[in-house]
Amino acid sequence: MVSPSRSAIAREEPVAVDWWRMLADPAFLEDPYPELARLRNLAPVHHDPVSGVYFILGHREFARVSKSSAMGRDTRLWMGGWSSPEYAAEDPVGYRLYSAFQPQMINSDPPDHGRMRGVYEPAFHPQAVAALEPMVRAEAERLMSAMPESGVVEMIDAFAGPLPLRVLRNLFDMPEAMDEDIARWSAALIKIGDIMMTPEQKQDALEALDTFKSVLRRHLAERRGCPHAGLIGSVLAAEETGVLDEEETLTNLVSMLVAGHETTVTLIGNGLLLLLQNPGEMARLRADRGLMRTAVEEFLRVEPGGNMILRIAREEMDVGGWRIPAGAPVVGLIGAVNRDPLRFARPDVLDIGRTANAHATFGGGIHFCVGAPLARLEAQIAFDALLDRFPQMSLAGRPEWRLDRINARGLGRLPVQVGAA
Ligand code: HEM
Repeated sequence: MVSPSRSAIAREEPVAVDWWRMLADPAFLEDPYPELARLRNLAPVHHDPVSGVYFILGHREFARVSKSSAMGRDTRLWMGGWSSPEYAAEDPVGYRLYSAFQPQMINSDPPDHGRMRGVYEPAFHPQAVAALEPMVRAEAERLMSAMPESGVVEMIDAFAGPLPLRVLRNLFDMPEAMDEDIARWSAALIKIGDIMMTPEQKQDALEALDTFKSVLRRHLAERRGCPHAGLIGSVLAAEETGVLDEEETLTNLVSMLVAGHETTVTLIGNGLLLLLQNPGEMARLRADRGLMRTAVEEFLRVEPGGNMILRIAREEMDVGGWRIPAGAPVVGLIGAVNRDPLRFARPDVLDIGRTANAHATFGGGIHFCVGAPLARLEAQIAFDALLDRFPQMSLAGRPEWRLDRINARGLGRLPVQVGAA
């Protein structure tokens, strides 16, 4: 990894932090917010001399970094990083994994980024997403009808987990029988977002990537030549006209599944937990469903799920008193950014009517989440369905945070008492 020369750094790190140990510490994963607030109060930007990463915790600083053309997303520019010869020699499996995951929009800078994004974006335009509403509603209703009128329901398994998976599978025009496989591949691949993976996780992710790519290759071949609308139609057209090559087509599709699945599971699960922990806000939303849009944005702010957003400096950039050198990795810690008191009034309080809510959960600049309109629609439908179906909901035991992921903060279990106890 990079170790920038001291002369490139405009200031000294105010505190010695073992960053990667802290980020993986179970106590931190249970409740990262007090420690993130402490570090953000010390400085909005920190530098880890061990990994070379610059961590951004301030809202103003993250907004600048995420939108600046000096900050790219092409991981091949990371000096000493995943694409370097020294990394290939040190960790051949990791090198193969990151190389195979490279050719996609999230890992590209202009002009490749725009070329790829242009293919997928039409599937998420407001009209296209509005057309998906009946399908999302039908899937939510199917899951609801399988739940009891009253009793304890484990909401991650019964609702928050399957809904986004079914929506994506429909978007990909794949058969229901594939749900279990897709969930397994997604679980292995989401770890790539953790940045620091164990050798076993890299091997699992590589296998999942290879298998899913072959399944998608067959899936597209079966559909080639037939008239096809939506996401798959745009992808086939782009392949035929040479806008995308096969590797780009497959890697972008795999990544879309990873980007769109767990993130939406955590939005629904974490949002429901927030309502259960704040019964006053739940009652407010029941009484005024017109607050649904701002409520979902507030869930995204308070519990963002994805906690790390990556950039690689293309050029030197001064941020928060540091001079970040070209080739350095920069990670926005969104749990800190979204609760910066310089940007948000009462940042730790859930206020479902909050309007000034410039959270960073969908990132920023040219990489701003392309699937955000779909994620928002799914969440709004999910919470409407839950409130319609269950006039009473309360926690029925301790919710369990998943402690095996350092980026995606989501629940493994959320037991909810529905109806009368
Ligand atoms: C709550 C749900 C979601 C969250 C929190 C989320 C978050 C993010 C974030 C943080 C980024 C990177 C932004 C940056 O680097 O500035 C991103 C990019 C992306 N997301 Fe999402 N996402 C969600 C749902 C979805 C869905 C449903 C899809 C598609 C089905 C999707 C597809 C993508 C794609 C393709 C990119 C890459 C965009 C680019 O590089 O231009 N996401 N998302």
